Amino acid sequence: MKLSQNTVLITGGASGIGFAFAERFLKAGSQVIICGRREDKLQEVRQQYPQLITKVADVASESDRLALLEWIKQEYPEVNVLVNNAGIQRRLSLTNLQEDWSTTHNELAINLDAPIHLSTLFIPHLRTKADAVIINVTSGLAFAALANVPIYCATKAALHSFTQSLRYQLAKDTAINVIEVVPPAVNTDLGGIGLHTFGVNLDEFADSIFQRLATDEQEIGFGTSEQIRNASRPEIDARFKAMNP
Ligand SMILES: NC(=O)c1ccc[n+]([C@@H]2O[C@H](COP(=O)([O-])OP(=O)(O)OC[C@H]3O[C@@H](n4cnc5c(N)ncnc54)[C@H](OP(=O)(O)O)[C@@H]3O)[C@@H](O)[C@H]2O)c1
Repeated sequence: MKLSQNTVLITGGASGIGFAFAERFLKAGSQVIICGRREDKLQEVRQQYPQLITKVADVASESDRLALLEWIKQEYPEVNVLVNNAGIQRRLSLTNLQEDWSTTHNELAINLDAPIHLSTLFIPHLRTKADAVIINVTSGLAFAALANVPIYCATKAALHSFTQSLRYQLAKDTAINVIEVVPPAVNTDLGGIGLHTFGVNLDEFADSIFQRLATDEQEIGFGTSEQIRNASRPEIDARFKAMNP
C-alpha cells in the first residue's frame, strides 16, 4: 500500500501500537484520524501532534460504530484506510468465572464485533476510493493460544479467519486491499500497565511493520509472530506447550 497521501482512521490510536502507526502515517505524509474511549488520552496526543484528528468513540457500542461512519462520511469523506486496532486483553479463569456475561462479552465486542462490523460498514464507502485498505490487527496468539487470556485468543483467532474471508471476497468484487498485522508480545499497556514489559520494543516493531506495509505483503508479523504464523501444526503444538507449562 502507499504510505503517503492517505486519510487513515485508526481505532484505539491514542496509545501503544495504534499510536505508533498514527505517528508513522503522519510522518509519511498521510492525514490521520484516531478514536478511543478516553478524551483525556486523545487530548494528550493532540498536544504532541496538533494535526491529529481525534474522536471519542467506544467501538464496543453498535451505535458508536454507526455514528463513527456517519461522522466520517460527513466530516472526512476522503478516508481511504481503516485500521481495526482497538483491543483489550483480560486474564481470567474459565473454571471460576465470576462476572456477568456483559463483562465477558465486552472483550468479544471490542476485539471481534467491532472489526467485523466496522469492516462491513466501511466497505460501501471504501469501494468508492482509490487505494482503499483495511488493516486488521490480530496477534501471534491467534495461531497458538495463551490459556490465561482465553477470550482474547479466541477473538484474535476469529479475526484472523474473518480477515482471510474478507480479503478473498473483496478481491473478487472490489479494489479494497486487506492486510493483517500479526504482532508478537509488544511492550505496551495492553491488559494493564506493566503487564507487557517483556514484549519487544514498540518502535522496532512498528518500524518493521510500517516498512513492510509498503510492499504487497498481506499478512505481516514480527519476530516470534512471524515464526508462528508460518509454523507447522507440530510447531504450533510445541509453542502452545511452551507458553502453557
Ligand atoms: N501489545 C501486545 O503485546 C499485542 C500483541 C498482539 C496484538 N496486540 C493488539 O494490538 C492492538 C493494540 O494494542 P496495544 O498493545 O497497543 O494496547 P494499548 O496500548 O492498550 O492500546 C489499545 C488501544 O485501544 C483503545 N481501545 C480499547 N477499547 C476500546 C474501545 N472499546 N473503543 C475504542 N478504543 C478502544 C484504547 O484506548 P481507550 O482505552 O481510551 O479506549 C487504546 O488506545 C490490540 O488489538 C491488541 O490486541 C497487541
